Amino acid sequence: MAREELPRRVEGYLLELMDQFPVVAIVGPRQAGKSTLARRIMPRLKAGLYLDLELHSDLAKLRDPEAYLSMNATATVCIDEVQRFPFLFPLLRAAGVLRCELPADAERIRL
Ligand SMILES: Nc1ncnc2c1ncn2[C@@H]1O[C@H](COP(=O)(O)OP(=O)(O)O)[C@@H](O)[C@H]1O
Ligand SMILES: [Mg+2]
Repeated sequence: MAREELPRRVEGYLLELMDQFPVVAIVGPRQAGKSTLARRIMPRLKAGLYLDLELHSDLAKLRDPEAYLSMNATATVCIDEVQRFPFLFPLLRAAGVLRCELPADAERIRL
């Protein structure tokens, strides 16, 4: 039987941070509930894309990460397990800067 999903107090704070910053990282110990939290938030966004870099299919989508991010410039992109690919971080910084220049009602990139 599936366990009941408990509400997380951090959820509202995370959404606030996402309104203020172009890139937000969810950091914490293993099994703390980071992925669950991210997956729960995604459907509440206008355009939410969730990538899990432990899945080959999702990894393939980021083969050309710059193209993927600019193709989805108005979407919120959640990149789970991003720490496995540290070369993505400089690109995310640059993409975040670009997204700060988007109209205020556009969604932004989140980790
Ligand atoms: N809000 C929650 N209520 C109940 N169980 C949860 C909740 N969030 C996570 N879990 C459970 O905790 C375990 C770890 O969650 P997960 O999101 O995979 O953690 P992380 O991504 O931080 O390693 C999973 O079995 C998940 O079902
Ligand atoms: Mg996880």
